[in-house]
Amino acid sequence: MDILKIRAHFPSLHRQLHGRPITYLDGPAGTQVPDHVIETVSKYYRYSNANTHGQFAASEETDRIMESARSKVATFINAPDSSCISFGQNMTTLNFSLSRALVRSMNPGDEILITQLDHEANRGPWLNLEEQGIVIREVRLLTNGTLDYQDFEDKINDRTKLVCLGYASNIFGTVNEVNRVRALTKVKNILLLIDAVHYAPHLSIDVQKLDCDFLLCSAYKFYGPHVGILYCRPGLLDTLKTDRLRTQDAKAPHRIETGTLNHAAIAGVEATIEFIAWWGKGKELREKLVSAMSTIHQQEMILAKMLYDGIRAISKATIYGPPMDLDERAPTLSFAMDGIDPKKVCYELAKKAIYAGWPFLCHSCS
Ligand SMILES: Cc1ncc(COP(=O)(O)O)c(C=O)c1O
Repeated sequence: MDILKIRAHFPSLHRQLHGRPITYLDGPAGTQVPDHVIETVSKYYRYSNANTHGQFAASEETDRIMESARSKVATFINAPDSSCISFGQNMTTLNFSLSRALVRSMNPGDEILITQLDHEANRGPWLNLEEQGIVIREVRLLTNGTLDYQDFEDKINDRTKLVCLGYASNIFGTVNEVNRVRALTKVKNILLLIDAVHYAPHLSIDVQKLDCDFLLCSAYKFYGPHVGILYCRPGLLDTLKTDRLRTQDAKAPHRIETGTLNHAAIAGVEATIEFIAWWGKGKELREKLVSAMSTIHQQEMILAKMLYDGIRAISKATIYGPPMDLDERAPTLSFAMDGIDPKKVCYELAKKAIYAGWPFLCHSCS
């Protein structure tokens, strides 16, 4: 991989702070965005800005952009076709919409299983359903940063209607044993939802192999704009009682897409997938994407290992999560400095042009 050539595509990597190049280590902020994506978004506003289904060129272009973006995303995650791909503001908003839709077909006493390792975006929407009599159970997180799979088995029962599981942890980089969970849910006909927001930037996704019912990700985590993506198994979205205007298309993928979508950003999502494919080998788009993601992953694991070893050498630092040399792992780590407030650590790092995130909770969080 020609790193210098790839870096040249990212304008933000040319930026300096205090005379140093910036090091972007703030996972929650997402990835930086290449020129091809930035230019595609701006080209949309220059030439094709319109709503869909009009009888004039800009609107027809918008229709074409939306359809081809869906098709590229379908290839990115190996969905059978583009009608399985819905867009939204972000993963959180789509997951809230999904939770409101699914609860309309549930009864008080039905159970949903979530995990202690998941991002709040895959916990909050489901925990809210407790108000409607849905029982939410939580799978335990072990101190090594992995899930307790025995607890998974123990908590799945005949009342479980849905299991919501992250693919990779944004805190520890743990990749969860999704296939094991699918096997547990399949025998009991339980729906499986996967939050792939943190997995999508690092490893390639194959929803058909995963055999999941829902999968969510967010393009700003893989070099794209802020757009949420929802995959629904073919035929499933058409059966859901989504929030929907009477004027809104009732069919998938539109059934859950309320209001006017961010067409410019969605044009950027297509450009993002094209950009990733540039770095892969093969004839077909899927082949190129799988190859590019594998090369990206190898490269980022080299960097992550350097970071891990460097932080481990600091006597006051404790690293949380699984070791960096696991077969399947995201290149993400969390650490704490003995006796130093994480906010202060981030502040000191920022003086050295290193951007890092700390677990910020807003003051009204309870
Ligand atoms: C694992 C994971 N899930 C969900 C989200 C929420 O995604 P969004 O910002 O698109 O709502 C994030 C955001 O950081 C995340 O890391």
